[in-house]
Amino acid sequence: MRFRLPVRQSILAAIIALVLGQAAAFAASPDPKIGAHISAQCAACHGSNGMSVDTSIPNLAGQHYVYLVTQLKAFKDRSRISPLMNELARPLTQEQIEDIAAYYDSLPIEVGKPSKSKL
Ligand code: HEC
Repeated sequence: MRFRLPVRQSILAAIIALVLGQAAAFAASPDPKIGAHISAQCAACHGSNGMSVDTSIPNLAGQHYVYLVTQLKAFKDRSRISPLMNELARPLTQEQIEDIAAYYDSLPIEVGKPSKSKL
């Protein structure tokens, strides 16, 4: 009898934790389809398929999710300086950054012999 209330409370706490945990997992799950939609703003430079339009712009197709998230956050908080990308990343939310990263990460790439340097 003495433990009745605490046991009930801990069961309730466990249920709340489970529900909140699932809600957080759902909200945090990156969506490459939303990322594809946002990436329309990036296509002029990084290409509609993540292959850039110029040798001065990095390709993003097939790039690792974690790397992309790290770089976009660094552009956003200006710990990586690129006047162009700092401005473009500034309005992106954490969720949008994750969606964009999931999109570029999902794009297929073929690895072959590197093309000859254009320099
Ligand atoms: C006007 C051209 C332009 C647009 C538009 C643009 N970028 Fe960039 N992006 C660049 C250039 C140039 C760099 C190289 C920056 C540097 O480090 O000097 C770059 C770098 C990056 C990098 C780092 C890649 C690496 O290998 O480290 C990421 C990630 C990136 N851009 C994502 C995006 C996303 C996402 C968008 C759209 C929201 C976007 N860019 C829009 C020109 C552009």
